[in-house]
Amino acid sequence: MKIGIPKEIISQEYRVSVNPETAKMLLQNSHELFVQSGAGLDSGYSDEDYSNIGCTIVDSAPEVFDKSEMIVKVKEPSLQEVEMLTNKVIFTYLHLSSSKELTEKLLECNVTGLAYETVVVNNQTPMLKPMSEIAGRLSLLDSIELLKKSKGGKGKLIAGTSLADPANVLIIGGGIVGINAMQMSLGLGASTTLLDVNNELLNNVKSQYPAVNVAESSETVIKNLLPMIDIVVGAVLTPGGKPPTVITRDMLSLMEPKSILSDVSVDQGGCFETSKPTTHGDPTYEVDNIIHYCVKNIPSAVPFTATNALNEATKPFILKFANSGLHGLFNDDKLLMALNTYKGKLTNQEVAEAHSLSFTSPDSV
Ligand SMILES: NC(=O)c1ccc[n+]([C@@H]2O[C@H](COP(=O)([O-])OP(=O)(O)OC[C@H]3O[C@@H](n4cnc5c(N)ncnc54)[C@H](O)[C@@H]3O)[C@@H](O)[C@H]2O)c1
Repeated sequence: MKIGIPKEIISQEYRVSVNPETAKMLLQNSHELFVQSGAGLDSGYSDEDYSNIGCTIVDSAPEVFDKSEMIVKVKEPSLQEVEMLTNKVIFTYLHLSSSKELTEKLLECNVTGLAYETVVVNNQTPMLKPMSEIAGRLSLLDSIELLKKSKGGKGKLIAGTSLADPANVLIIGGGIVGINAMQMSLGLGASTTLLDVNNELLNNVKSQYPAVNVAESSETVIKNLLPMIDIVVGAVLTPGGKPPTVITRDMLSLMEPKSILSDVSVDQGGCFETSKPTTHGDPTYEVDNIIHYCVKNIPSAVPFTATNALNEATKPFILKFANSGLHGLFNDDKLLMALNTYKGKLTNQEVAEAHSLSFTSPDSV
C-alpha cells in the first residue's frame, strides 16, 4: 500500500504519526512510504532518518496526499485536507463527535475514515491510552502553574506547607486520564477527590490509593464539592461519543474566583458547558472569573515522548490494515471498530447519535 505521512498542521502540534521504527516495519512489509519534508523534525527525526531506510521524502502536503492510498496522521484532518482525501483512507484521531462539519465533509468526500480512539479492547482504548497517560499527567502539572498568582491564578501552593493546607483537586472520570492526574495530584501532596460512575473502579482505586477520596459522580456530589475545589480535571469519556456535561455554567458561581477547570475531554467536545478548544500558545480563558484550560492536543507539548508512545500503540493496527486492506478490516472485529465513515455512510453509532445523523452498521455497508 502507498502510505503518506504529512506534517501536522494544527497550532503547535509537534508529533508525527509514523516514526522511523514504524516506517521501517511498514517498508519491510513491502509498503511504500511518502513522508512530507520536516514531518518528524519536532519529534527529533530528520528527513535523512526516513530517507536512509527507504522512505520517499516529498516537499508538500498535496504531493503526499496525491501519491498515497492511505494517509496516517495524528490529529483530525482540516476540511482542506479532507478534500485531498477524496476516495482515500485516513487513519488518525478523528474525534468526530466534536465536529458535525468534519463528519459531513468526510462523508461527502467518500473518505474511509479510521479513528484510533474508537477501537476498544477489553474495555480499554489501546490507541488512546498512551496519549491519555500523558494528558492526565500534564493536565495536573499545567494546572499547578495556573494556581500561581504570577500566572493569574489564586496564589496557592499545591502541597501547602507544614502550616498551610494543600490545594484541593477534583478529578471527574477515573479512566486513564483521571488515574494519571490523580497519581500526580497525590504525589504532589494535594487533597485529592476522584469521581466516576463505575463503583467497582472506585473501590479498586480506593484500595490501591487509600489517600484519595472517592465518590460516585452525580450533580449533587459535584455541587457540594465545588466551593472547596481549586483545580477540577474533567476526564470523562464514552468511547466515540460526546462526553456528558458534568459542570454547567450555573455551577461556576459555586467556585472561588480564579479556580481552574481543566477539560481534558475537550477533544471529544468537552465535559464542562463553558469549554471551548484552546491551543498551547493560548491555553486559557476565563468565564465568570473561573480559569478554563482546554488544550485539545496536550501530549504535543512533549513530542519526544508522545510520538514514540503513540507509535507503540498504533503500529500493530496500521500494519494490519496496510497488509490486509478493506478485506482484512471487515474480517477483524477490533480493527473494524476504527471504521467511522465508509462509502459516504456513517458507521459509528456514538458519532451518529452526537450529531443526529443516520447510522449504518459496518456489517451492512
Ligand atoms: N486533550 C487531550 O490532549 C487529550 C489527550 C488524551 C485523551 N483525551 C481525552 O480525555 C478523555 C478521557 O480519556 P480516557 O482515556 O481517560 O478515557 P477512559 O475511557 O479511560 O475513562 C473515562 C472514564 O470516564 C468515566 N465516566 C463516564 N461518564 C462519567 C460521568 N458522567 N461522571 C464521571 N465519570 C464518568 C468512565 O466510567 C471512565 O472511567 C477522553 O475524552 C479523551 O479523548 C484528551
